[in-house]
Amino acid sequence: MRSRCAELADLGVQFFVAAAPANLANFNLTPLGVDLTPLPFLARGWRHDDLLRLWNQMDAYAFGPREMPMPNWVLVDHALMASGLIIAACDQANLEPILTRFRVGPNERHILELVLADVHAQGYTGPVPIAGYCAAPTAQRGRWMGWSMCSAIPHAGLGFAVKAIGLETYRAEVVTGVTQYDNLSLRAHVKFGPARIEAATVDLHTAAGSFVYATDVTAWRAGAATPARPLSSDGTPAVDAGASPGEPTLLVAAGDRARHLELQATIDAGRHRVEIIEPGLIIADGQSLVPVRITPIEDGVDHG
Ligand SMILES: CC(C)(COP(=O)(O)OP(=O)(O)OC[C@H]1O[C@@H](n2cnc3c(N)ncnc32)[C@H](O)[C@@H]1OP(=O)(O)O)[C@@H](O)C(=O)NCCC(=O)NCCS
Repeated sequence: MRSRCAELADLGVQFFVAAAPANLANFNLTPLGVDLTPLPFLARGWRHDDLLRLWNQMDAYAFGPREMPMPNWVLVDHALMASGLIIAACDQANLEPILTRFRVGPNERHILELVLADVHAQGYTGPVPIAGYCAAPTAQRGRWMGWSMCSAIPHAGLGFAVKAIGLETYRAEVVTGVTQYDNLSLRAHVKFGPARIEAATVDLHTAAGSFVYATDVTAWRAGAATPARPLSSDGTPAVDAGASPGEPTLLVAAGDRARHLELQATIDAGRHRVEIIEPGLIIADGQSLVPVRITPIEDGVDHG
C-alpha cells in the first residue's frame, strides 16, 4: 500500500484531510508515509470551499446511480465537524499521464468528465478532486463508521488508497460500513481483512441490496506500518497483511434476496461468523457473486 501511495504521489496526486482544527490535532498527518495536507475547516484564512464543493459534486456523480449523493449539510455537520474528509486531488496537467498509466479507457471517464465540466464552468484552477473517503468515530472506542469511498479514475486503486490513508489518519481499529452486494467497493474493503456481515439486509437504507459489515483492521494496519514492498510486475499493489485468503463456503448472487435472508438467519442463530473474503466481488457471465465464508463460533464464544 505504501508503494501504491508513493507511486500516486509521484504521479502528482496530492492527499488532503479537511476537518475541524480540533479533530486535525488528533489525527496522524503522515499516514503510510504520505504527507497529508491539513485543511483546517473554517480556521483563519480558510479558502477551500471551492475544492470541497467540487469534491462533493464528484461524490454526487459517483453515488448518483444509487441515489446516495451526500448533501452539503452532511459534509459539513458530519464529515468536517465530527471527523475529517480524505481527498485525493491533482493538478489538471497531471490528469492525462495518470489516465494513461492506469489504462483508463475513453468510456470509463464519465465521472471525471462531469467534474472537469464543473471545473471549467466555475473557472476553478486548484487541484481537481479525483477520490475521497470519510469515516467518523462511533460510541465504541476504536470503531469508525465509513462512507463515501469514491473515485473518478477506475483501476488506479484510488478508493482503496484513500480508505487506507483514512484508517491510518484516524488510527481506526475496527471499521464498519454499509455497502451493497453488487458494489465494486467490496474488492477494496476486503483488502483490509474479512468483512464480517453484521446485518445481511438493511431495508431502511436508500440503496437496494444494502448490508452492514465490520472489519478488524488492526492486523492490516500492523502490516501496512512496515516498509514499502515492491509492486508486482504488472504494477498492481502487493497483497496486504490482514487480507484473508482461503476458500469461500458459498458464492452469493448479488440479487439473491432469499439467500441474503438465509445469511441473516445464520447470523441471528449466533453460532457462526459470516464474512466476505477476497476477492470481495466476482463478476462472471454478467453476474455479480460475493464470496462468503461461514465458520463456526467455537465453544459458543466469539473471539472475533
Ligand atoms: C468503489 C470505487 C471507489 C472503486 O474503488 P478503487 O479502490 O478505486 O477500485 P479500482 O477502480 O481501482 O478497482 C477495484 C477493482 O475493481 C476492478 N474494476 C474496476 N472497474 C471495473 C469494471 N468496470 N468492471 C469490473 N471490474 C472493475 C479493478 O480491476 C479492481 O480489481 P482488483 O481489486 O482485483 O485489482 C469506485 O468504483 C466508485 O467510486 N464507485 C461508486 C461509489 C461507490 O459506490 N462507492 C462505494 C461505497 S461503499
